[in-house]
Amino acid sequence: MSLTPDPLRWASGTVTELHPWTERLFSVRVEADVAPFLAGQFTKLGLVIDGELVSRPYSYVNAPDERPLEFYFVTVPGGPLTSRLVELQAGDSLYVMKRASGFLTLNEVPDSRYLWQLSTGTAIGPFLSQLKTPEPWQRFERIVLVHAVRLARELSFRETIDELAARHGNRFRYIPVVSRETTDFALQTRIPAAIGDGSLERRAGIELTPQDSQVMICGNPDMVRDTTETLRARGLERNRRRRPGHITVENYW
Ligand SMILES: Cc1cc2nc3c(=O)[nH]c(=O)nc-3n(C[C@H](O)[C@H](O)[C@H](O)COP(=O)(O)OP(=O)(O)OC[C@H]3O[C@@H](n4cnc5c(N)ncnc54)[C@H](O)[C@@H]3O)c2cc1C
Ligand SMILES: NC(=O)c1ccc[n+]([C@@H]2O[C@H](COP(=O)([O-])OP(=O)(O)OC[C@H]3O[C@@H](n4cnc5c(N)ncnc54)[C@H](OP(=O)(O)O)[C@@H]3O)[C@@H](O)[C@H]2O)c1
Repeated sequence: MSLTPDPLRWASGTVTELHPWTERLFSVRVEADVAPFLAGQFTKLGLVIDGELVSRPYSYVNAPDERPLEFYFVTVPGGPLTSRLVELQAGDSLYVMKRASGFLTLNEVPDSRYLWQLSTGTAIGPFLSQLKTPEPWQRFERIVLVHAVRLARELSFRETIDELAARHGNRFRYIPVVSRETTDFALQTRIPAAIGDGSLERRAGIELTPQDSQVMICGNPDMVRDTTETLRARGLERNRRRRPGHITVENYW
């Protein structure tokens, strides 16, 4: 007998597309009846594997009012869920947790002139969800989106980013960082080093100071840690509900 996840907690969704960006990076697009969520939040995706529900957290890439739902994932070698997600086809079912979670949301971020969104790999997703909504553009004078990957072809979502650039002009700056190959357009470094040597600010055309900046960081936990340390050395502090600061983070593992 196959297990049916609790229908109060889980929506039984239908995959509309598995879009490949590279041989390891995919967007899974799903129609599912989920509860309203805030841009930047994550939910869980689940599949019944060998009679058990295997589920993991994934950030929404779509804006809250956009459909289908979209999740951007990398296949982890031997990973229990991603090795099955990658086999999905249009029409297959996929469980989506109805209620979203997470605090990498703009309502947690104090007002400031500039918003910096720093991501590695698949963690660009929650920032795209936010940038597709009006709120950040109503609240911040300038927004800098940084996407750090190993190889240039892992810089997905160029069309979405081009649309944001066309719509918001000088107020938006997209900075690709490619660590393991030389290109004529990306910074070849890591995010903390690019903050440390000033190259990120030069590329952004603005300074990263506690007076003017809020920073959101998402992705590889080593990057989140090292970037937070680099920013703290410049006087920026972690943002907590009880003690507002400048740095709001989410670790992906
Ligand atoms: C709050 C939150 C949000 C997340 N959102 C996303 C998302 O939008 N997209 C996504 O691909 N993953 C996301 N993850 C990670 C995701 O939940 C799974 O861990 C991942 O998809 C691998 O699942 P798995 O079962 O195949 O392997 P797991 O057993 O879950 O993971 C095995 C190992 O793979 C590595 N790993 C996991 N996720 C990633 C990743 N995204 N990039 C690089 N290395 C990774 C880690 O070393 C981890 O220990 C998120 C995690 C958290 C906690
Ligand atoms: N991308 C691939 O081609 C590839 C191939 C096989 C397996 N994998 C596996 O797949 C998983 C995901 O790989 P991924 O490339 O998507 O994500 P990732 O390993 O998190 O790398 C993404 C970016 O984060 C940078 N980074 C890593 N640690 C950092 C730190 N402490 N501070 C600042 N930046 C840091 C990386 O720089 P560096 O390049 O300098 O580390 C890279 O530019 C990993 O578990 C990896 O072992 C990846």
